[in-house]
Amino acid sequence: MTDTTFEPFVRNAWYIAAWAEELDDGLVGRTIMNEPLVIFRDADGKASALEDRCCHRGAPLTSGQVTSEGIECGYHGLIFDGAGKCVRVPGQDNVPSNAWVRSYPIVERHQFVWIWMGDPAKADESLIIDYPYHEQPDKWPHRKTMFPIKANYMMMMDNLMDLSHLGYVHGKTIGGNPNVHTGAETTAEPTERGCLLTRWMMDSPPPPTYVKAVGFKGNIDRAQIFEYVAPASVIQRSIGIDVGKGARENLEQPGLHFRLFHHATPETETSFHYFFSMANGYRQDDPSATQQLYDETYPTFLEDKEIMEIQQQRLENDPSRELVNIKADQALFLARKKLHEMIAAEQAEMVAAAE
Ligand code: FES
Ligand SMILES: [Fe+2]
Repeated sequence: MTDTTFEPFVRNAWYIAAWAEELDDGLVGRTIMNEPLVIFRDADGKASALEDRCCHRGAPLTSGQVTSEGIECGYHGLIFDGAGKCVRVPGQDNVPSNAWVRSYPIVERHQFVWIWMGDPAKADESLIIDYPYHEQPDKWPHRKTMFPIKANYMMMMDNLMDLSHLGYVHGKTIGGNPNVHTGAETTAEPTERGCLLTRWMMDSPPPPTYVKAVGFKGNIDRAQIFEYVAPASVIQRSIGIDVGKGARENLEQPGLHFRLFHHATPETETSFHYFFSMANGYRQDDPSATQQLYDETYPTFLEDKEIMEIQQQRLENDPSRELVNIKADQALFLARKKLHEMIAAEQAEMVAAAE
C-alpha cells in the first residue's frame, strides 16, 4: 500500500480526544488508534481517559456511570479512579492489587481535551498547541463541533493544505471562482513543527459567504494562512479586506477575519474524528454572525467528507498505484515530509528500546 493512503500512527503526540464541553454532559466513549476509551471528569472536575474495558469481565466502562469516587462499571459495579486504579469492589473490603485499567495522559486547555496515546513518560505538555482565542469571546466568538469521517486522517491534512480544491468542491459557498484559486499567489514553507501555506488572491471577487458576513460591495484582497502542525492539526486564518486598503501591509484592519482550528484524531487506519472550531473576528457583538459563519461553513466540511470518503474507497481498491503530484501539492508534500520524519524518529526509538 502506498503511504499516501494509510500512514502509520504517530503515538507520541497530543491529539484531541474531545471538546471540554462534551465532558460536561457526562462520559464520552471514543475509539482512538483502534483503542476504545472512556473519557470523563472525576468528582474534582479533572478530565481522565481510561481504556473502555473493565478488568473484571471485560465489560465496557462506558456502560456504567460517573460517581463521586470514579467511574463505575455497568456490569458488577467495580469503581475506577481517574488513574485507572480500582477503588471499590461491591461486596468485599479489599481491592485486588491487579484490579486496574490502563489510563492515558490527558490535559484540558483552552477548551480542548488533549490525549497522549504513546509512552506516558514522553508526554510533554509544552508540545500542546497554544490557542488562546477560545478564551477571548469578545474578540473571537466561536463555535465548535466534531464528526466522524471514514478515511485515513491524513486525507484531511492533505485537503486543508491543498486549497486549490476550494473553487471546485466549495464553489457555491466559501470557495468562489476556481480561477481565483488556481491563480493565487502561493508560498509554502517548512516550519519547525510542520509547514506554512500562505495564499493571496488580490483584487478578487469575494465568495458568497464573505459577502453575507460583512457586506463587501466590490473586489477584495483575500489571504489564507494555513499552518500544519504535525501530526494532525491545521490552524487556519482567513482574511478579506476591501481592495486598495493595503491588506498586505496591515492584516489587522477591519474586514472579514476568521480563524479555524482543524484536527483529525485517528479512530482506525481508515477513519478519524474531525474536530473543528470556527471563530469570527467581525461583528463580534452579534451572535448571529457566529451562527451564520457556522451555518455557511459546516456544509462545506460535509462536502469535504463526501469526497474524502469516496477517495478512500478508490485508493483502497488499488492501493499499490502511485499518485501523481502537481504544483498545488507543495504544502501537502512538506506536511507529509514532516509527518514521515516523526514516524521515522518514533520507529527508531522503538527499535532502540527493543535492543
Ligand atoms: S465486568 Fe466490570 S464489574 Fe464486572
Ligand atoms: Fe474543503
